[in-house]
Amino acid sequence: MIRFEEHYSLKPYNTFGVEAGARYFFEFTEPQDLQEFVRSNKTISDEKILVLGGGSNLLLVGDFDGLVLHPAVPGIETVREDSRQVWLRAGAGVVWDDFVQFVVASGWGGVENLSLIPGNVGATPVQNIGAYGQEAATVIDSVAGVDLRTGEEWDITAHDCRFGYRNSLFKNELKGRFVITSVVFRVEKFPELKLHYSGLEEEVQKLGSPSVATVRQAVVAIRQSKLPDPATLGNAGSFFKNPVVTQQQAERLTARYPEIPVYPAGEGMVKLSAGWLIDRCGWKGVRRGDAGVHEKHALVLVNYGKASGREIFSLSEEIRHSVSETFGVTLEREVNVAGREIH
Ligand code: EPU
Repeated sequence: MIRFEEHYSLKPYNTFGVEAGARYFFEFTEPQDLQEFVRSNKTISDEKILVLGGGSNLLLVGDFDGLVLHPAVPGIETVREDSRQVWLRAGAGVVWDDFVQFVVASGWGGVENLSLIPGNVGATPVQNIGAYGQEAATVIDSVAGVDLRTGEEWDITAHDCRFGYRNSLFKNELKGRFVITSVVFRVEKFPELKLHYSGLEEEVQKLGSPSVATVRQAVVAIRQSKLPDPATLGNAGSFFKNPVVTQQQAERLTARYPEIPVYPAGEGMVKLSAGWLIDRCGWKGVRRGDAGVHEKHALVLVNYGKASGREIFSLSEEIRHSVSETFGVTLEREVNVAGREIH
């Protein structure tokens, strides 16, 4: 199935629920559809491209004056298995949490801590999604997609994806050039559960003996208790990344703010909690018109109804400025910003 539209509203395609239009919009369910589209549109490489999956990590600050590609490739299939592991291919258009549910229902492990993360499978390698001590990079085996310059289909092995904290090749060198159509995940038949993230083990214990099913339930309960559901309150999860600073800078901060949460982040580096920094600057629950900072989690910006992308963006810049003034720490956005250029 393909669908091609002009001047198309993206409101239903972004979890912030902001109004913005696409100059062109192309949706496809088969990788071959995209290959043909690329080969028959020679000027495609001149277009500005936005790959839009579930739109759960995106802020549209205006109309997108280019081509929006919406992969809707369905399906989950077993590619192969051995005595310990199963390789599953999932289409880019599969809802991520449906995939997690499928894996957990089969009794397999590796993705249960990533329960309830909004978005589609195609975005998981781009962002290298992570939560509660697990990361997509650990279970991704390879990524298939279409090269927008040639229309060729490639398979990229996990090693070549250059995964980092909320980062990958797809956000950098391949941005706007490569569209992911499916991902092969390697899940475990005898999983080792990851319960070390603060509060997780306690939540699991309330539910019974630890298993992939109880971990999933616990993660769902924790997320629902502090993160807003985009279906009822527009948001895109964490708006900023957790900043990584030098040990020295962290020590200066700890001397002034002994209660500041700090996490080791590799040699000589320390990860801070953006939510804590924003919270300490007094932003939690602040509202500017329909744009706001969530009442329960300062890292999540929300749309109470009719906020424009620009209003949410301005609020985010105010927050960034205030954290920088107070702590001398620069926050980097986690969400992608697209639409008319920002000056
Ligand atoms: N905190 C506050 N005030 C707040 C929010 C957080 O003080 O308003 C402090 C608390 O001390 C808390 C600490 O921040 O202990 C960490 O908060 P939380 O456990 O909620 O995690 P996070 O670091 O804010 C990250 C991910 C989330 C992921 C959770 C759980 C990033 C940018 N965010 O948030 O991912 O669900 O850990 O693993 O790494 C997302 O990427 O969209 C996302 C929601």
